[in-house]
Amino acid sequence: MNDLTVTSAAGKSDLTVVVIGHCAARLPKLVNAQAVRIAKGEASAPMLLVAGEGSFLLVKPDEKAWLVGGDNWRLLGREIVDAMRTSRAKTATVLLQGKTANPQALVEGLVLGDYRYNALRSGKEGKRSQLTVRLPGHAAAVEDGSSIAQCQNLARELSDTPPNLLDPQTFAARAKSELRASGLSVKVTSGTRQLRKAGFPGLAQVGMAGSAEPALVEIHYQPKRAKGSKRLALVGKGITFDSGGISLKPGDKMWEMKADMSGAAAVLAAMKHIAISRPDIPVTGYLCLAENMPDRNAQRPGDIYRARNGKFIHVDNTDAEGRLVLADVLTYACEEGATHLVDVATLTGACMVALGDRIGGMMGRHPAFLDNVRAAGQEVGEELWPLPLYGEYRSLLDHPHADLNNTGGRYGGAITAGIFLSEFVPDGVKWAHLDIAGPAIQTGGWRYYAKGMTGFSSRTLMRLPHRLR
Ligand code: BES
Ligand code: MN
Ligand code: ZN
Repeated sequence: MNDLTVTSAAGKSDLTVVVIGHCAARLPKLVNAQAVRIAKGEASAPMLLVAGEGSFLLVKPDEKAWLVGGDNWRLLGREIVDAMRTSRAKTATVLLQGKTANPQALVEGLVLGDYRYNALRSGKEGKRSQLTVRLPGHAAAVEDGSSIAQCQNLARELSDTPPNLLDPQTFAARAKSELRASGLSVKVTSGTRQLRKAGFPGLAQVGMAGSAEPALVEIHYQPKRAKGSKRLALVGKGITFDSGGISLKPGDKMWEMKADMSGAAAVLAAMKHIAISRPDIPVTGYLCLAENMPDRNAQRPGDIYRARNGKFIHVDNTDAEGRLVLADVLTYACEEGATHLVDVATLTGACMVALGDRIGGMMGRHPAFLDNVRAAGQEVGEELWPLPLYGEYRSLLDHPHADLNNTGGRYGGAITAGIFLSEFVPDGVKWAHLDIAGPAIQTGGWRYYAKGMTGFSSRTLMRLPHRLR
């Protein structure tokens, strides 16, 4: 899956990569002539040249306005690994100089661009050759970029893993093993009964018919010496398969709901990188893990249960399960002292109707905090856009027999889901809800993401604690 090594060590290589406009090295005449043509717009990049002096790949950062936060450099990374695989080059050296270059984003693009979920392929697709890319002179960029992208690839791998191989229990075990060497403490509360006892009825309701028991994973990062009094909590929706439950989904594309744990995967990815990048504030990650299935033990439409914060919830539709597993954990994270709280969830199809599938929805009550989260996303090439938690829509969640209904009707579905979650977050906590239903799932491929799941929001969550201090 990760069949690529990126290093800052110089050495022999099969291919020399020239980043046009960012290369101070002297080039063979023929190569230079083509570079000049590309720079002038007379020829297009990427261009592969075989000269007497060796093979050269000419690439040029794209200038499209929407490629923010280094994404034009990540795209170069993908172009480089693609060219290496098609030309069978095993090693490449990237020539890159100057202040305007973004070597870290390029490294991220190499690692993200070469990822394939091929663990379950038995033919030649299952065995790819190991590549090495050299970026001499860019040690820090190689180290940071590789860690960020490898952690994001962990999120992608979990999301791509089929639901017969990833259930709440195997996910929890994997979270533990991935963090074993990190120095972070991990606590798992597992099983319907234990979760009810510990005050997480939503996880129990949704997960009680699953093929494996639901679980809550808590991951704690504590800096050696914390600065200030901010405490960040990250809460991820981790439905390892969302059939809809008794309110069963139609069969078309139901398989995509193996990725309904992408929020939890992004939180795990972020925590793994945070253990390495060591921000100045404490961060806790929560993974809300359950499988949503129809069964005689399943919750029913019409069920009413009492949430951790005392509010009674009417289950109108068992397919609106994400908000149920998140609600109690949001309450809990605030009880535990979170001053800043971000939840990430593949929560609603409605969010994709509103924003399309390449922008995440963002909701909350503190505009300045939302600006901060959005800016973190922009810095790393993940686009988030605010939707309003419009007060008048609260009444769409009214129910005659309970405090809250779990659905709010056809219109404004992303917003009513956000309003539902807001009922579990005290006003004083700076909270952002990210609905990543669209950009997490890209079965047609997108930018430097091969067909499959993207791990979207991982990089935003990795960046955020460094902006909060
Ligand atoms: N996991 C889905 C949302 C989803 C849909 C994510 C498509 C990614 C792609 C969520 O649990 C769900 O089923 N939401 C319902 C809510 C409705 C029943 C109020 C939806 O969006 O239809
Ligand atoms: Mn659902
Ligand atoms: Zn779901």
